Amino acid sequence: MADKKKPVIIYGGSFDPPHKGHTALAAAALRQLAPEALYFVPGFHTPFKDLRPVPFRERAAMLKAALAAAGLAGRREIKISSFEAGLGRVVYTWETVAHFRRLHPGAPIYFLLGSDCLAGFRGWRRSGEILRKARLLAGLRPGYSLKKSGAVPFTALKGRFPQAASSDIRGELFLGAKPAQIFPGVLGLIKKKGLYLGRERALLKTLLTPARFAHSVETARLAVALAPAAGVPQQKAALAALLHDCARDLPPAAMARLARGPREAALRETAAKAPVLLHAWAGAALARSRFGVRDAEVLEAAALHATGAPGMGPLARLVYLCDLANQGRTFPAAGRVRALAREDLGAAFLAANYVKLVYAFSGDGWVHPLSVALWNSLQEKKKE
Ligand SMILES: [Fe+2]
Ligand SMILES: [Fe+2]
Repeated sequence: MADKKKPVIIYGGSFDPPHKGHTALAAAALRQLAPEALYFVPGFHTPFKDLRPVPFRERAAMLKAALAAAGLAGRREIKISSFEAGLGRVVYTWETVAHFRRLHPGAPIYFLLGSDCLAGFRGWRRSGEILRKARLLAGLRPGYSLKKSGAVPFTALKGRFPQAASSDIRGELFLGAKPAQIFPGVLGLIKKKGLYLGRERALLKTLLTPARFAHSVETARLAVALAPAAGVPQQKAALAALLHDCARDLPPAAMARLARGPREAALRETAAKAPVLLHAWAGAALARSRFGVRDAEVLEAAALHATGAPGMGPLARLVYLCDLANQGRTFPAAGRVRALAREDLGAAFLAANYVKLVYAFSGDGWVHPLSVALWNSLQEKKKE
């Protein structure tokens, strides 16, 4: 009797944002299994300082828009579950499977996932328990064969499913691009709600000249690309790089008023000798007051991007480097530093400091003591 029940499919994931890969997998699962229900279960995201994750409500709205675009709107089997998001903590798959097992006694339970997740499945918490309560249902992605499943039993979905990595998609969204894997309806929602730093980019546009805005986006593009190597969260790299010059186009008096910091004496000297450099400290103040940034590392990255300073943190080093070496910089040294950054971030950071110092010396002007101190600290480090 029990085995006559129609199957129930659980589709867990971050859905941050939902993309064509998700809807293609769901459509195939509906076709092949004709289930009683297919639950999308967006996971809970731990808020971390300024990295406010896209809330469940917004992800659910995007998911609905994606399902409509994929022609799946109005399918009564499809449900969006707040089970994981509602618990307000990280939820393990075994808990989710147990929840739906209780909800649908006697129905065959399937857990839908991309075949790229199969190989690591044995490392999941209580994987044995998951397999006792549910059967894995996997869509084959290009580059992953059934043989790579690590001998985990599963049902294969018919068809091939596009490769779409959410982190790459988010990286593009942070820059204001329109990734092809995202349905236009979802892009519309992202724009309307200012998600994926859209709110910050819109405000930044009102503060900068078009050329400076383009420079900020290019700086962010390189920062996003190098973020994994720098050990920095992608969103934080994008935010700091986008905002680093946010005060650069203010009138000098406004810049000077805003530029405050723990090193008042150094700022007074800067104001007297090279007032344009104040835009960095003013940028940190503006990032705080206008953009609501509270993350000390993002503020440090803005404050120190022009001069550098000994003991800069990884995010500040990354923004300093990307400000000089991004694709929008056409002088040959920028290209060389950019190429070096792909190989060795530390060496590229030192090279960026060198290029900036040479530029300052050749200008026959005042060189900021913090830039010289940074150079000296890096030489000391080499000796260690
Ligand atoms: Fe700058
Ligand atoms: Fe800049």
